[in-house]
Amino acid sequence: MDNLQGFHRSHYCGDLRAADAGKTISVCGWVQRQRDKGALIFVDLRDRTGILQLTFDDATARDVFEKAKSLRSEYVVAATGKLKEREAKTDKIATGDVELYVTELRLLAKSETPPFAIEEDSQVNDMLRLKYRYLDLRRPDMQHAIATRHKITKIARDYFDEQGFLEIETPILTKSTPEGARDYLVPSRVHPGKFYALPQSPQQYKQLLMLSGFDRYFQIARCFRDEDLRADRQPEFTQIDLEMSFVNEDDIMSIQEGFLKRVFKEVLDVDVQTPFQRMPWQEAMDRFGSDKPDLRFGFELKDISDIVKDCGFGVFSGPVAEGGSVRLINVTGHAADFPRKKIDKLVDFVKTYKAKGLAWARMIDGQVTSSYQKFLTEEENKVILERAEAKDGDLILIVGDAKNTVVWAALGALRCEIARQLDILDPKDFKFLWVTEFPMFEWSEEEGRYQAMHHPFTAPMVEDEDKILSDKANCRARAYDIVLNGTELGGGSIRINTPEMQEKAFQALGIRDEDIQERFGHLVGAFKFGAPPHGGLAYGLDRLCMLMAGASSIRDVIAFPKVQNASDLMMACPDFVDDKQLDDLSIAVTRKEQDEAEA
Ligand code: AMO
Repeated sequence: MDNLQGFHRSHYCGDLRAADAGKTISVCGWVQRQRDKGALIFVDLRDRTGILQLTFDDATARDVFEKAKSLRSEYVVAATGKLKEREAKTDKIATGDVELYVTELRLLAKSETPPFAIEEDSQVNDMLRLKYRYLDLRRPDMQHAIATRHKITKIARDYFDEQGFLEIETPILTKSTPEGARDYLVPSRVHPGKFYALPQSPQQYKQLLMLSGFDRYFQIARCFRDEDLRADRQPEFTQIDLEMSFVNEDDIMSIQEGFLKRVFKEVLDVDVQTPFQRMPWQEAMDRFGSDKPDLRFGFELKDISDIVKDCGFGVFSGPVAEGGSVRLINVTGHAADFPRKKIDKLVDFVKTYKAKGLAWARMIDGQVTSSYQKFLTEEENKVILERAEAKDGDLILIVGDAKNTVVWAALGALRCEIARQLDILDPKDFKFLWVTEFPMFEWSEEEGRYQAMHHPFTAPMVEDEDKILSDKANCRARAYDIVLNGTELGGGSIRINTPEMQEKAFQALGIRDEDIQERFGHLVGAFKFGAPPHGGLAYGLDRLCMLMAGASSIRDVIAFPKVQNASDLMMACPDFVDDKQLDDLSIAVTRKEQDEAEA
């Protein structure tokens, strides 16, 4: 095998253009493919910038020619030669005007045949890609996604630095901080039986930094949450996390708008209009059935509870009587795109959101056909269609349930699903929205108690402060989410900054006084020493990168992600450890994965 002694790369492959013709050039990289035409050999050489054609012909020295003959895909080589303008130019690659006539070729490493072709958009099974992630990352689309991520992170650092933020690291081995997921725990060897928790976010540390007077903090922070994975969730992920003192919501939002404007301009050359639209949570739920509405299309929800509350059709009147609602969406102009069979699939779809069914009406050629009209009076049918503003060609879809949350979830998801099926979502149309005035608390069926909707450090709205203990259901928070095209990009709030209000918030969540002391004594105690009014926000960096890179999963913008069951296929972890290691940690394992599989 050759080495790099005396060799110096002069250029990256993808940067060479006709203007460089005539120069002596040295490049290195991986063989994309070798084409042996007998008297002529072409080698496509790939590095992270692109591909350059190396050419070997009858003028090439014999030993160099023979070496070129032996090259296979993914071999690592270095080449020096004269760059020439091609006779047969191609616009398929950026360097299609030139080729390198090689005079010196070094073979630096061989490669076995890779388990899949290293090329853009390759239709390879995801599991295989992740097992061989180091090869998957060689593909140009992955290289592009990771480079985009770097750019976004760099702009974040520059922007927040310019705005006077200090980057401060906070611990990874820490104490549980509630963000609504399970903790990842790390056993302590020195304190047998005690555990650190990996941070679900740096929330409490950043608030304490405000108390310490740092005024503006930010961090590219790794967070850990043991929760069910989805396309936009990973067990470890990264936040652009920030906190500011002596501010209100408007100050925080305008700094964020500046950041997003800049990052979209510099990375995608997209001009984002600011300030962003703002919408209270209640309006978002009523109009879109979601606290992260996609504003790129209509099909808004409309409440018809008042029309059907006394009708003779129990499927509609029942939910209203039980305190729920009946709502519809009008898929304007698309009745013809949804024949009965497709509607049946939509019925199945809403059932996955716990809706009991989906009523529908189609208006085609002046005729209304519907699944429910025979159960209602002519007047009731007419008023429903009027409320829907239905015209010929429209499709009306209706969900009723005793729980508003089910109606919202089902119709909110349905309008997005329909938009996907109709292929009307433009990934290059960026519609930002601030959702504000979230409820402080949400009722957890599972736990049978109220939980913090954001986290327990969020301040109540000034006009709702009195409700924090007495009227939890109607107490609104000074919390806000930044939403982009149906994805929650980030969330934050103005925080509580007095020990009295913080204790009240914990009490409202049913945390007993001794637990408050044990779990949050440091924070409540700190608030006794002059905590400035403060607030902040954290972006999901992975989600921002996903949307900006046009990827469909955050996995595609994370170099080494986990799969659905939270394992890393490449490293094969999590994994069992030696008994000795467990002994050191005073840990006895009572159940193993194999045992579970056998049980
Ligand atoms: P929150 O829990 O809303 O707020 O998280 C902020 C943002 O982080 C991203 N995110 C995730 N991304 C990938 N995988 C996950 N499992 C995951 N969970 C969350 C989302 C989300 O909007 N400390 C507060 C912020 C604050 O109040 O300042 C917090 O963590 O994009």
